[in-house]
Amino acid sequence: MYINKIKLENFRNYEKQEIEFDKNVNIIYGDNAQGKTNILESVFICSLGKSFRTNREKELINKEKEYARIEMISYKEDRDIKINFEIKEKKKFKINGIPAKKTSDILGKNYIVLFTPEDISILKNEPSKRRRFLNIMISQLRPMYVHLLNQYNKMIEQRNIYLKQIKYEEKKIENLEIWDEQIVKAGKKIYEYRKEFIEKINDKIFDIHLKTTENKEKIKIKYISNIGNNYSENLKKNRNSDIQKGYTGIGIHRDDFEIYINNNPISIYGSQGQKRTAIISLKLAEANVIYDEIGERPVILLDDFMSELDKKRIQGLFENIKENQVIITCTDSFKINNSKYKLYKVTNAKIECI
Ligand SMILES: Nc1ncnc2c1ncn2[C@@H]1O[C@H](COP(=O)(O)OP(=O)(O)O)[C@@H](O)[C@H]1O
Ligand SMILES: [Mg+2]
Repeated sequence: MYINKIKLENFRNYEKQEIEFDKNVNIIYGDNAQGKTNILESVFICSLGKSFRTNREKELINKEKEYARIEMISYKEDRDIKINFEIKEKKKFKINGIPAKKTSDILGKNYIVLFTPEDISILKNEPSKRRRFLNIMISQLRPMYVHLLNQYNKMIEQRNIYLKQIKYEEKKIENLEIWDEQIVKAGKKIYEYRKEFIEKINDKIFDIHLKTTENKEKIKIKYISNIGNNYSENLKKNRNSDIQKGYTGIGIHRDDFEIYINNNPISIYGSQGQKRTAIISLKLAEANVIYDEIGERPVILLDDFMSELDKKRIQGLFENIKENQVIITCTDSFKINNSKYKLYKVTNAKIECI
């Protein structure tokens, strides 16, 4: 699949702007703070329903304006797909002109894999970054997953409130039973999805990574979850501790994964360089999983591309995405060998095709 066109209106620093993309490689360059990442953000929003940079969605509206709009037209399975996004008080989407009932309705219409310099944080401390990586990948392919996750998170929030009420207002501990049953039901399903997709990633990432490291590094991902073999029992056993702490200690909201290189956990033994390479392999594996699932190559978005990578890694990366549409942002224009590409320059929210 590929993106044909994007129209922006009052989005971020843009007023009115239209960009037509090439099917193959698109390079958007310009100085800092001109509006390059904003373009990728607009594509991301029309694919996943939310930004990768902010949860405060009003930020998306140009500071001087009242609303923002994005229209994205893409081509998939011999058909055009039009996604319209509008944010005023609330955000709204349309799919081929028809208003979407909920944001998650737009999932599975456009498939993208985003590489940003911040990706390195996936391998740094907080597991929340790794869960986010899994959530984004799975929600594109299994829109049902988003419902489950939202449901689960709401239930955990309510359970945590109730835990405090047990402690301070002497509410009955038995009533947790009702929450826990529902939580375990949704949590188990989420666990199964995550397990399935970590296996799928493992199937792909091993060869990708072996090749880019000249057969030196065997990579493997291990899923870490504290739900154990008997989720309900473990949740129950932990109740007193939960009540003391005021939050739920057991569950898929604490999930994590670890990447191993030659059987050593990368978080402990990996160098910066190894981590960068592993992240690229992880994202490429994601792109391959998507291809296997839907039979079309996802669009690859590479933000601030040159800043983080050396020549060898760039070459390796390009080898792997030859068949995808690629949209790159960078601060210097550069040439890619043997490849057709379209070049755009961004200056203060104005884009010119060169
Ligand atoms: N809501 C907004 N209204 C106006 N300008 C904005 C808004 N949000 C961000 N910007 C501006 O957009 C620019 C950053 O755009 P970005 O795409 O991140 O730049 P870069 O070219 O470095 O990737 C900054 O100048 C910032 O002030
Ligand atoms: Mg940027």
